[in-house]
Amino acid sequence: MRAVVWKGPGKVSVDQVEDPRIESATDVLVRISTAGICGSDLHMYEGRTSAEPGVVLGHENMGVIEEVGSAVQQLRKGDRVVLPFNVCCGTCFNCSRGYTNACLVTNDEAAGAAYGYVGMGPYRGGQAELLRVPWGEANCIKLPGKPGDELEDDFLLLSDIFPTGYHAAEMANVQPGSTVAIFGAGPVGLLAAYSSMLRGAAEVYVVDAVPERLERAQKIGAVAVDFRKGPPAQQIRDLRLKNPLVRGAMRKGEEKMAGVMCGIDAVGYQAKDFEDPSKEQPTSVTEQLAEIVNPTGALGIIGVFLPEDPGGKDKAAKQGEYRLPWGALWEKGIRVGMGQTPVKSYSLALRDLIIAGRAKPSFIVSRRIPLSEAPDAYAKFDRREPGYTKVLIKPAMGQPSAAH
Ligand SMILES: NC(=O)c1ccc[n+]([C@@H]2O[C@H](COP(=O)([O-])OP(=O)(O)OC[C@H]3O[C@@H](n4cnc5c(N)ncnc54)[C@H](O)[C@@H]3O)[C@@H](O)[C@H]2O)c1
Ligand SMILES: [Zn+2]
Ligand SMILES: [Zn+2]
Repeated sequence: MRAVVWKGPGKVSVDQVEDPRIESATDVLVRISTAGICGSDLHMYEGRTSAEPGVVLGHENMGVIEEVGSAVQQLRKGDRVVLPFNVCCGTCFNCSRGYTNACLVTNDEAAGAAYGYVGMGPYRGGQAELLRVPWGEANCIKLPGKPGDELEDDFLLLSDIFPTGYHAAEMANVQPGSTVAIFGAGPVGLLAAYSSMLRGAAEVYVVDAVPERLERAQKIGAVAVDFRKGPPAQQIRDLRLKNPLVRGAMRKGEEKMAGVMCGIDAVGYQAKDFEDPSKEQPTSVTEQLAEIVNPTGALGIIGVFLPEDPGGKDKAAKQGEYRLPWGALWEKGIRVGMGQTPVKSYSLALRDLIIAGRAKPSFIVSRRIPLSEAPDAYAKFDRREPGYTKVLIKPAMGQPSAAH
């Protein structure tokens, strides 16, 4: 089969690789109808992880079951499914408590596994024609309809970033009436904004510097904050204090709460320096969040931080160690959540919101491509070029008699 393979920093190619096959009685084979390219793939693409060349990429996968192992009872050939990016066993101590992001069985090296990702177990990714899904019963979310129908792209986003955006909002304690600041208007930041609104947030501010992405944030009703125009925390505080309705509702002393209650980092360790965006400054977002989140607020750090970064600027950064405004966060009594999303905890509820027509996360999808265009799309997405906010690969596109 054909698959997208990481060859080294800045280089992926579409190679012929061996077809996956049923290796264990609980496996399922899925013919991929759509696979997403994720901001998380870019950390590997750029050589900013400890990945070795040869990884078949792709952790955002959906398709149709082609074959099931002999122990699989509840799924059959022809079922349409989406695969949460966490590969889980479904029954260990952590999976049983809903923490499928920290499965104790599927990865010998750490708690938690994923398809096509460094440090996340031996599983190949789904930017390919076929995917082996281990522990099939636990890892397949069943979908209605047919490949290529009008919900295909919405459903694909259930594999990672819609649940991830929602989890960020959960960690940041977004509730009806909440005020929310989100750093990063990539797919994750945009769906964190969208999820915050689904949860009833009153005000949502989204910070980035890519005009197309800020426009998308504005279109769903968020307030776009361009960090090229000044420190974003100050911009958000000014916007709130200059709003006569916000100001007019405040009692004496409440100016101390002129920030927001909920903060989300949807950027991670490759955050740009606000003063010189040609450079990275991994703590720039945390610093701004510590400033803008009100006393008693909460933070959701959904952007990735890794314990190994070959491109870190000094010895500490290479080991994922940073200097943080811990005192400021402690003094304000801020609750902080972080880590991989336990996708499966959210995917059924969010799937049913999509089916009911009450959520349409595919507004972020900007381009659909055949497998052969993946190398070009990686390069353009990596440069955050217009039109490349979220790219979906359709392996059957351009193939004879294909549905996509
Ligand atoms: N925790 C999880 O389970 C999980 C799952 C999926 C993705 N992620 C992570 O979420 C992050 C975002 O993913 P994405 O797909 O949206 O990727 P992305 O890289 O397209 O988006 C990041 C955005 O942040 C912007 N940005 C850079 N520096 C900034 C700064 N200092 N302030 C504000 N914005 C800044 C960029 O312009 C870009 O638009 C990545 O780190 C990704 O690995 C985490
Ligand atoms: Zn992803
Ligand atoms: Zn488990």
